Amino acid sequence: MTKSLPAILGGAPARTTPFVVGPIVDETEERLVLDAIRNHDFSRYIGASSPDINTILRLSSRDAAVIQANWHFLGGPNIRLFAAEFAEKFGCRYAIPINSATSGLSVALAAAGVGPGDEVLVPALSFSATASAILLFNSIPVFVDVDPKTFCIDPEAAGRAITPRTRAILPVHLLGNACDMEALQVLAKRHHLKIIEDCAQAPGTHWRGRPVGTIGDAGVFSFQQSKNITTGEGGMITTNDPDLAARARLIMNHGETVMDEHHSDIDLANIVGFNFRMIELAAALGRAQLGKLDAANAWRNRNYMFLAEHLGRLPGFTPPYVPQDVDFICHVAAFLYDERATGLPRDLFIAAIRAEGIPMGTGYTRLMYENPMFLRRIAYGTKGSPWTDGADPSEVRYVKGQCPVGESLIYQKFLWMYHIAHPSTLDDMSDIVRAVEKVLAGASALNAAAEKIRNSGLGKRAQGRIEGRSR
Ligand SMILES: Cc1ncc(COP(=O)(O)O)c(C=O)c1O
Repeated sequence: MTKSLPAILGGAPARTTPFVVGPIVDETEERLVLDAIRNHDFSRYIGASSPDINTILRLSSRDAAVIQANWHFLGGPNIRLFAAEFAEKFGCRYAIPINSATSGLSVALAAAGVGPGDEVLVPALSFSATASAILLFNSIPVFVDVDPKTFCIDPEAAGRAITPRTRAILPVHLLGNACDMEALQVLAKRHHLKIIEDCAQAPGTHWRGRPVGTIGDAGVFSFQQSKNITTGEGGMITTNDPDLAARARLIMNHGETVMDEHHSDIDLANIVGFNFRMIELAAALGRAQLGKLDAANAWRNRNYMFLAEHLGRLPGFTPPYVPQDVDFICHVAAFLYDERATGLPRDLFIAAIRAEGIPMGTGYTRLMYENPMFLRRIAYGTKGSPWTDGADPSEVRYVKGQCPVGESLIYQKFLWMYHIAHPSTLDDMSDIVRAVEKVLAGASALNAAAEKIRNSGLGKRAQGRIEGRSR
């Protein structure tokens, strides 16, 4: 086996050891979780009606951590300490731990007053949860194309998508970049829209010196295991708005259990409650992980900078554009691939790079509106709910091709590398660069092999084997 022959053509792979990623953990996680177990702190939540409920619901996270009276509605000690510590770090009045970012987005939207039939502008390019969260309260997602360089929502396209039914914008700070918040704020002000920031992939990213998640009406973070810090599963809602916080705390905590039947406040009494609580053990993990957020972010950025420097030098590999006013924390290393510059079709490149032992993807499988639920407009049951609900059904339709920039990123340009997180080292990053250089050097041999298969009449199956499936 020759070293320079691409592995997909029978050469030795550039790397044989698998890549691994996992959170930074030490004895702090163990101690805090063990303490919680020994103290029998598993949930500690008790939902009981209280004459002080309006005060309790609006207590800042800092106050809630120290005030003992009626503590049970806002959670046990770790939940309230995690909330206070997160609020302190992000400089906001409220941080509300929740069981996932998906439920956090639904709760934040509903708490901001977005309801059935209301339209929510959302970038077409994100993880599916960003859009499905909008459906929980029967609101209607309206998909907006993204900026080709930052991959975040295109504010001009958002402006064109506003109708009299639009109530909110749900910008996603994708892959750790930050959206153009100034342009979105102008739109929101002009059209009286709420802004709920999806920060699942950007904890620690700053826009004009402010952490994302504290710029709009609310922000939502994820602590799912693939994220920069983790509680296994989990999330956090951030806001400075006491009414939004109160409503959020009700929605995620069986709202109705603490509301008495004569409650005069229609904005609180009309809320259906769920159980979206985080458990104490997850909050204990979260407190330990929060102390490592800066280190985890620095780890990702160091590896990303290495890739950006070395791959960015090669023709055909462009890192994302990070605007000057953004302090970027890379979540996943994404590059724009130009097959005219490399001379290798993207699918063939990816198949060859994977054969070298390097995991690489092309991003999400499809844009969110391309999911059958949207194309067929059937989220609940089979009769078209929520689009067909009520006396004034929604005219929003979803079709392939509606967001060409997002589609071209996924289907032609994206290369995503996930393995920049701890404990990947710069040696691991060097392996990626070496493998890319090797595959590019073997471009002629790879193209010739693909051509031979195409001409041999072996048909699509054999061609698929050499070109691989990259999505
Ligand atoms: C942009 C974005 N939004 C929302 C979510 C949902 O987060 P969770 O898994 O915590 O519900 C994710 C998770 O991958 C995400 O990447």
